[in-house]
Amino acid sequence: MGKLLERALLAGVGLLILALLAIGANRTPPPHAQPIAFPHEFHSALNRMDCMYCHTSAEGSQDAGMPAVKICADCHIPAGVPTVRAEKPEVQKLVAYWRAQKPIPWVRIYDLPDHVHFPHMRHVSVGSSGVYCQECHGPVQLKRDLGLNQPLTMSWCIACHELRGVRTDCVVCHY
Ligand code: HEC
Ligand code: HEC
Ligand code: HEC
Ligand code: HEC
Ligand code: HEC
Repeated sequence: MGKLLERALLAGVGLLILALLAIGANRTPPPHAQPIAFPHEFHSALNRMDCMYCHTSAEGSQDAGMPAVKICADCHIPAGVPTVRAEKPEVQKLVAYWRAQKPIPWVRIYDLPDHVHFPHMRHVSVGSSGVYCQECHGPVQLKRDLGLNQPLTMSWCIACHELRGVRTDCVVCHY
């Protein structure tokens, strides 16, 4: 009896592993394949870096902004010498952009149509109305491949504005 049960369990585990392998083999690349597989989880969680260290303008302007290569180089290529994780292929790509003095062509993920006005600084500014980055972008600090945390629909914006007593007349978001 015990033996049979054990076998049944082992077979079950075997099937599960096969199923997982099949899923693994079918895995398509992430929808927003980036020029460098940038690991947010290393930088944000392990090293406790503030989001604003790289997205420097989130608090003070419309756009959160993307980091210039120099920000990466300050740590990875101090004084022009590839140092931190320099042996890793993804960091070697960074070194190549730096040497060529070319910006890294990051693929945009969160991108509203031009007729919509979204000011970051009004959302993340310190004070009682401040919204955490994660409320809109999800647990970025744990992630490697970022995707859209939710579709950027008009009803999503309006639902939160209503909840927090923020204006919802058309001209707030549309010029
Ligand atoms: C404040 C210092 C610092 C800055 C700024 C920084 N990094 Fe890093 N990065 C690190 C450290 C430290 C690690 C190793 C993390 C670990 O393994 O725990 C790392 C790891 C990485 C890795 C993973 C390497 C591997 O193990 O495969 C990549 C890729 C990377 N960084 C790219 C970048 C890019 C691109 C930028 C700029 C957008 C950047 N880093 C900015 C310190 C930094
Ligand atoms: C070391 C620099 C660095 C830090 C720190 C960092 N980011 Fe990023 N972030 C990047 C880079 C590089 C990209 C582009 C690659 C990607 O999308 O993964 C990016 C992309 C993003 C995007 C997608 C932007 C788009 O294209 O729409 C969001 C959202 C984001 N980061 C939020 C955060 C949040 C929230 C934190 C803090 C928890 C954070 N980031 C910390 C460098 C950084
Ligand atoms: C209320 C929701 C919300 C909050 C809070 C928020 N974002 Fe965003 N974020 C967005 C939307 C919407 C976009 C797309 C904006 C556009 O296309 O004009 C965006 C775009 C971005 C981008 C792409 C580049 C850019 O400048 O547009 C980055 C990077 C980013 N956010 C980082 C952050 C960080 C870091 C924080 C916290 C300091 C944060 N966001 C807080 C909703 C939010
Ligand atoms: C999670 C909650 C939340 C979401 C989601 C959100 N907002 Fe907001 N929004 C706020 C808060 C809170 C304020 C008020 C900040 C203040 O009082 O300064 C605000 C303020 C604004 C303002 C300035 C309003 C004024 O009075 O001038 C604009 C414009 C705006 N949001 C656009 C958007 C758009 C566009 C989206 C969707 C892409 C969006 N918001 C999604 C919470 C949110
Ligand atoms: C809090 C922000 C916000 C407010 C307030 C708002 N919108 Fe929008 N609106 C958006 C966003 C974000 C989009 C783009 C996403 C989408 O198409 O769902 C959009 C898209 C639209 C579109 C284009 C839809 C399409 O299919 O391309 C129209 C038309 C529109 N809004 C009209 C209005 C009118 C009329 C009002 C006032 C009754 C209004 N909006 C109020 C955020 C807002």
